[in-house]
Amino acid sequence: MARILMCPPEHYGIEYEINPWMNTRRQADHALAQRQWNDLRDLLESLGATIELLEPLAGLPDLVFTANAGLVYGNRVILSHFRHPQRQGEEQVDAAWFERHGFQVERLGEEHYFEGAGDALFCGETLFGGYHIRTDALAQQEVGERIGHRVLPLELVDPYYYHLDTCFCPLAPTAAIWFPPAFDEYGQKVIEAEIADRIEVAESEARSFACNAVVVGTHVVTNTGCPDLHRQLKAAGFTPHETPLSEFVKAGGSAKCLTLRLDGEEAATW
Ligand code: ARG
Repeated sequence: MARILMCPPEHYGIEYEINPWMNTRRQADHALAQRQWNDLRDLLESLGATIELLEPLAGLPDLVFTANAGLVYGNRVILSHFRHPQRQGEEQVDAAWFERHGFQVERLGEEHYFEGAGDALFCGETLFGGYHIRTDALAQQEVGERIGHRVLPLELVDPYYYHLDTCFCPLAPTAAIWFPPAFDEYGQKVIEAEIADRIEVAESEARSFACNAVVVGTHVVTNTGCPDLHRQLKAAGFTPHETPLSEFVKAGGSAKCLTLRLDGEEAATW
């Protein structure tokens, strides 16, 4: 059964700008954000997932994006070390939650920035690691060594797609959704060579966070505004679901960013 960590948006808001989506003069509507978050949680529960909660904390508005808490590997978690000081306060909150819930918490060196499942996604045996904008390539290397898996580092080149999970989503061990222009030419070649079944999204849907999907079994949950992706998913045998997440897009996040799979992602074969 899927176990997913989420954090209620009680203290969520646009309080600083650390990616091009964020504008402190374009605030999230608090009541609407609350409703959208509840609907996402209800939808994931209806698909059979168990939702576990991280307690929100005032002053940490991006704590809602639990995908960035760390990379879960069995009962181990490689804790994130955020590039921007605005999010570094989340690290100890995340660490405390994982410790209380029986995970072995591992930290990378202070010199390595690493933003967890936002930038590190398994597809089959391989860990695909986004780098350059948030996570360092060296951090990805170190993560791979620690867990004993091959890492393929993918350079992210568009500031709008600053985390790997904004432009790439493994669906199954040989299948993924992606938005090619977010990668350099080399990264595009790597994905083409490594992942046999690729679903490509158009720029207009990438902007609606089509790639930022939560996968539960063969169910795939996204923000609204991705009809072409949903059509392609159906044709490939998946069952797509949409739920509005406009208030979180204002911070540069969507469905996947709001979740952290605690029992291993669907596409991971470890
Ligand atoms: N405002 C947050 C940031 O810029 C959004 C994080 C979205 N999370 C994700 N996994 N893509 O860090």
